[in-house]
Amino acid sequence: MTATCEPARTSPAPPTLPALALFGGPPAITRPIRDILKWPIVTEEDEAAVLHVLREGKMSGWDISMQFEKEFADWLGVKYALAHNTGTASLQAAMFAVGVGRGDEIICPTQTYWASCLQAFSLGATVVFADVEEESACLDAGDIEHRITARTRAIVAVHFLGHPCDMDAILALAEKHKLKVIEDVSHAQGGLYKGRKLGSIGHVSGISLMTGKSLAIGEGGILTTNDQHIYERAVAFGHYERFGGFGLSTRDENFVSEDLQPFYGLPLGGNKYRMHQMSSAVGRVQLKHYDQRVEEIRKASQYFWSLLEGVPGLHPHKTTFPESNMAAHYEARGHYRPEEVGGLSLTRVVEAMKAEGYSDCVPGLLRPLHQHPVFNEADVYHDGKPTRIAFSDRDLREKAEEFPVSSRLNRRMVTIPWFKHLWPEYIEEYALAFRKVLLQADQLLAGDPGDDKIGLTQGSVNMSSKQPVKK
Ligand SMILES: Cc1ncc(COP(=O)(O)O)c(C=O)c1O
Repeated sequence: MTATCEPARTSPAPPTLPALALFGGPPAITRPIRDILKWPIVTEEDEAAVLHVLREGKMSGWDISMQFEKEFADWLGVKYALAHNTGTASLQAAMFAVGVGRGDEIICPTQTYWASCLQAFSLGATVVFADVEEESACLDAGDIEHRITARTRAIVAVHFLGHPCDMDAILALAEKHKLKVIEDVSHAQGGLYKGRKLGSIGHVSGISLMTGKSLAIGEGGILTTNDQHIYERAVAFGHYERFGGFGLSTRDENFVSEDLQPFYGLPLGGNKYRMHQMSSAVGRVQLKHYDQRVEEIRKASQYFWSLLEGVPGLHPHKTTFPESNMAAHYEARGHYRPEEVGGLSLTRVVEAMKAEGYSDCVPGLLRPLHQHPVFNEADVYHDGKPTRIAFSDRDLREKAEEFPVSSRLNRRMVTIPWFKHLWPEYIEEYALAFRKVLLQADQLLAGDPGDDKIGLTQGSVNMSSKQPVKK
């Protein structure tokens, strides 16, 4: 099996479909999936980089992290990058850096991973949710403006599952209301929006680089910005050793922010957020190969979808913005349209797909955050009321049934294997499984349990806790 062989462009599906595996037919998927899903690709180059850190005793330094930061900033086309020990920390630092503080509100899509916004609580701020768009599954720019108040400080634009947000519309709103835009690029490293790299468009970005992500370096995150004051506030928040230090910036510049000078040396956030240098070392190697590896993921995805053209019920989650892309197709999904297959529930589709051999097939996305008790009931810091409203001038908690699109998407999106290689024989088996199930949907209608159980937890797929595929 080579990674470069060109697939045939014709559909491999036989004219008559085999019987569904759920009813005793032969499963469509016979090849072990682990090799085509295994990620990240680790070679001796990564191993040597880690060993160097260990042997030199550099685990807790920051020289290798600063090299990684420079390379990452150049790759992304931004002035500053600041390595963090998690994506969560980089996003919290981004919030602090743009001035989010006590009593402020940030607007965030309810359909995202909690670390896009929950850290706001620790800054004394709170979260106002907005809905997402049906096609992109990203923050709906049309659902933001009526949620802006005098307290709103920032909008978190999450490029969800690799899909770019409509940044022009979001930035226009931000400019009109003098707000900051924080990009959460944890699902979309290397993605493009109208020719611009994600993470270089808003005022600041936070990016998870943990092992389950597409740019996977170990636990880690990185903050990026073009704004020196934002950068210096982020350094001040969680990087005491570089706070005020000369030549310890991405661009070898001295600190210039006079408002920060009196506090040099101790972290304003009381946090120590620097990246473990084994992660930085891996990051330097992974980044070098990333674009070329992602190119293969994109080709594999294109091939998969070409095999499903014309099949009712399943459509690609894709961007229609010009000069844009789906980054590395992180945690790939397809749009499920039950109305095209007689109203068959997604639950039943998943049951049939598992029988075909796609054991990791999962319906939906994440439970919308506004429904979770942490955002409704938890009094985290002993304020005598839920933290979400502790410093607010109103009860901004939404009803569970609000945000219809975010809730509906749990029944209208389904996982697609996140193919890392263009291996036609493997991909064809998965496409055949979907063809079998969707083209024979009528046989599955009897005994359909419906979708009542979908989306009860954050999350139905926990994007951050996925274990690496074992060999
Ligand atoms: C959208 C999103 N934002 C932030 C994070 C947090 O990143 P980390 O796990 O590196 O802290 C994750 C995933 O883990 C994520 O999926």
